[in-house]
Amino acid sequence: LNYNVARERRYIMEVLFNGLRRLEYRGYDSSGIAIDNDLSSAAGEGERPYASALPLVFRQEGKIESLVRSVYSEVDAMGLDLEKSFMVHAGIAHTRWATHGVPSPRNSHPQSSGSWDEFLVVHNGIITNYEVLKETLIRHGFTFESDTDTEVIPKLAKFVFDQARGGGDQSVTFSQVVIEVIRQLEGAYALIFKSSHYPNELIACRRGSTLILGVKGLTDEKSYAASFGDVKTLTADGQPKELFFSSDLCAIVEHTKNYLAIEDNEVVHLKDGSVSVLKFDYSKEKPASVQRALSVLEMEVEQIKKGNYDHFMQKEIHEQPHSLTTTMRGRLRDKSVVLGGLKDHLKTIRHSRRIIFVGCGTSYNAALAARPFLEELSGIPVTMELASDLLDRKGPIYREDTAVFVSQSGETADTLLALEYALSNGALCVGITNTVGSTLARKTHCGVHINAGCEIGVASTKAYTSQIVVITIMALAIGADSISTQSRRESIINSLSDLPDKVREVLRLDNEMKDLAESLMQMQSLLVFGRGYNYATALEGALKVKEVALTHSEGMLAGEMKHGPLALVDETLPIIVIATRDACFSQQQSVIQQLHARKGRLIVMCSSGDAASVCSGGSCRLIEVPLVADCLQPVINIIPLQLLAYHLTVLRGYDVDQPRNLAKSVTTQ
Ligand code: G6P
Repeated sequence: LNYNVARERRYIMEVLFNGLRRLEYRGYDSSGIAIDNDLSSAAGEGERPYASALPLVFRQEGKIESLVRSVYSEVDAMGLDLEKSFMVHAGIAHTRWATHGVPSPRNSHPQSSGSWDEFLVVHNGIITNYEVLKETLIRHGFTFESDTDTEVIPKLAKFVFDQARGGGDQSVTFSQVVIEVIRQLEGAYALIFKSSHYPNELIACRRGSTLILGVKGLTDEKSYAASFGDVKTLTADGQPKELFFSSDLCAIVEHTKNYLAIEDNEVVHLKDGSVSVLKFDYSKEKPASVQRALSVLEMEVEQIKKGNYDHFMQKEIHEQPHSLTTTMRGRLRDKSVVLGGLKDHLKTIRHSRRIIFVGCGTSYNAALAARPFLEELSGIPVTMELASDLLDRKGPIYREDTAVFVSQSGETADTLLALEYALSNGALCVGITNTVGSTLARKTHCGVHINAGCEIGVASTKAYTSQIVVITIMALAIGADSISTQSRRESIINSLSDLPDKVREVLRLDNEMKDLAESLMQMQSLLVFGRGYNYATALEGALKVKEVALTHSEGMLAGEMKHGPLALVDETLPIIVIATRDACFSQQQSVIQQLHARKGRLIVMCSSGDAASVCSGGSCRLIEVPLVADCLQPVINIIPLQLLAYHLTVLRGYDVDQPRNLAKSVTTQ
């Protein structure tokens, strides 16, 4: 919504489209938008059930740009005036990643209450009781057009509204309707409501899913930060004011840095320039108006732009020297480490019976990479859990356990459900995430932000290396009271300080990796063997190739090679063996010999200067990387594999940043 100055329709549409572009990395199978029609053109159309204008709703399958194209061509065909100005305007838009129902215009959001689009809703999350609600609404004469769970929400809003009006309550407010609706919803949601019965108003609310309100145009940030809610005029006269609801800070950073993180059971109501925050519960109590403080966003707009790079994944790979520096900033002292978010809990962690890592995908792999060092320094058994598997098995978790949840987004449904499970079993729950204000950050007892900066490419790269570094620092903090490991700790702290430079060095392999990608263009399959610290590198390298280059690849524990995988070896199947210097080096040398003996097509990753000793028994292609401390070597070793996956994808002509069938944060089970 904008106030105080008139904005043209084209401007309003572009603000919404740009917001969607910023969020496209979260979902890109369909999208939609609802904007206001000219209020004046509403007069005289008697059959409509209300006086104001019909909203204009557009929905499209595919990426945002296909929505943009179709909206402009429809607007053109309708003869709609793009220069038409609005003093106040309420628009909503959404980009979708299908859960219920195939990607199609009909299943895209905004979902509607039916003909006339009296209530429109955009939704992130999942409504678990939608079937029951749908049956009830069908009994009341509603017909459903989509296969989504979301559609019950606007229809329920219309039902509640009609009942209130039919019952004689002509003064029922938008927030009363919405609160009545959400009292009946089960599941997780971030919702925005728009209604032609309440022009110039928007309502947003959430449960479990992130939702923020950005406020642009404040003249006195401090006083508004101190008291926000029920505020009638946020700006001095003449200042443009714009208000943005979003599920992600990335969509508002280019407009404003002032935001409010909406909480569960709050309803935020924007009406003609006023913002009110209402707190409600599930009883019939009247919702109370609350005062909330605004926060100031610590994110720069450059973070969400590609700059000179062709793709976000490429940018994020190359910015790792910087992201790792930010991750470590303020956390390393000469001979010790500081983790503000953990310091009050270190004693409990040291006394735990077990440390359990829980995560999915790349985040799981990062924890796996750092596990050996944590075991070494803490002396506590460290076990690994894929979140979905932990939930499937209902694996035992005890009060004496520390459960560490690792998630870039902090919103992965499986990880969050596992967190709830661990909380209910009384374990100390630690969060490691890149997303300030995420559900993971809010629901864990304590934790560490990895501070890698906004990651937009669906395939995680810089978050992976920052996660490894944070867990390594966590291990140093947990082990800080042991005298016997002091010199080991000090040497790792030194290596951490040197790490960004070593990452810069390994990034120089870019062209070499492009060349390797060219030679592997035709491959059907790829195996990656690692062990010890670099078992995780094998899994993560293979995952990158799978995710973006859409090529079958498997990361394997080299120690298991002779127990099955060896049968696959021939002259054509490319095999990457990670054989950098560490305690497992001689075992890896023997793996290479065995593969040579079977004429395997070998690519060996080794430490600089080790070429002769790793490739003595046959021909192989080499990737020589700088040597760092053993427990930090996975940070270096993954980078050539990230580059390889990137170049393979570009060469094959696939979408790098938004690979088919994948989403950046999987917020449903
Ligand atoms: C999805 C993404 C993966 C990511 C995983 C965990 O599957 O496609 O790239 O590793 O989720 O995400 P998280 O945000 O919890 O780290």
